[in-house]
Amino acid sequence: MQIVEVTPRVWDRILTVRSGRACTCCGRFSDTERAALDLYGPLARRDLGPMTFAQIGQSLDGRVATASGDARDVSGPEGLAHLHRLRALVDGVVIGVGTALHDTPRLTVRLCSGHNPARIVIDPRGRLPDDAPVLRDDGARRVVVQSVRRPRPDGVEVLHLPLTDGRLDPAAILQGIRNLDIGSLLIEGGGSTITNFLEDGLLDRLQVSVSPLIIGNGPQGLTTRSPVDRLSDAIRPDTRVFNIGGDIVFDCALAPRAAAACRPLHTAQDGRERNGMLIA
Ligand SMILES: NC(=O)c1ccc[n+]([C@@H]2O[C@H](COP(=O)([O-])OP(=O)(O)OC[C@H]3O[C@@H](n4cnc5c(N)ncnc54)[C@H](OP(=O)(O)O)[C@@H]3O)[C@@H](O)[C@H]2O)c1
Repeated sequence: MQIVEVTPRVWDRILTVRSGRACTCCGRFSDTERAALDLYGPLARRDLGPMTFAQIGQSLDGRVATASGDARDVSGPEGLAHLHRLRALVDGVVIGVGTALHDTPRLTVRLCSGHNPARIVIDPRGRLPDDAPVLRDDGARRVVVQSVRRPRPDGVEVLHLPLTDGRLDPAAILQGIRNLDIGSLLIEGGGSTITNFLEDGLLDRLQVSVSPLIIGNGPQGLTTRSPVDRLSDAIRPDTRVFNIGGDIVFDCALAPRAAAACRPLHTAQDGRERNGMLIA
């Protein structure tokens, strides 16, 4: 397990990787800063095409909130900072309307430097009120994916998709978002929205952050529609493990290019860096 420390200078490097102007491997960094580059570098890279990854924060007993719906601090302060860093590394953040209604998140980047991503809510039946914080006009793009004909306030983009058996096709959602020129995506929750993308094989990477608390009851993290009967059929991703503050992050590569993203960006095969790359 690697212990992660995100100092200002390593975070600066990670944001420079995101802008395509730096590699993940060169430079003098401490072991804990290197661990930060190992954790965030693959998510910051843009050379392998737009990636889709999900993150969920849960307790030791696998809960993402209490039975009464309190989900604010399942992750400790470092876990929250981690979530804001993930937002800063993507072009768009996707949530289900359940999370938008329960948690009223803003989905902005406040606990680290970086740009606010586009905010996308999957709301097939048009339940999200127009004054929800996630739709507030602060310069970031706002998109609602819905199947009903419900007008939205000026500036909010609507992606219309049909329901099939009560469900929007997750692949069509991804394609629709990409057609809006929103590339890399963080699926931030809740569990059912993440599971929809996971079961349809659409996630490149999944991060499960486990915090040391026991809630005892409440919504479970990931529950699939078609669970396996035999452990030998379980999904067993290539997993790296990181310690951030009190939390343990299981970083799972689900697609081959997610594993490829963990290899150094600058391979130095011929001793030269890529065009225009900053290597300190
Ligand atoms: N700890 C964490 O990391 C974390 C993160 C986020 C949320 N949470 C917690 O998770 C809970 C909410 O999670 P949740 O799983 O119940 O809800 P959710 O995933 O936020 O939203 C689910 C709803 O979104 C819509 N939806 C999403 N994908 C769809 C698809 N492919 N087709 C059709 N509809 C789709 C449906 O809306 P309709 O019902 O209108 O059809 C569905 O019921 C809350 O307690 C929240 O606090 C925890």
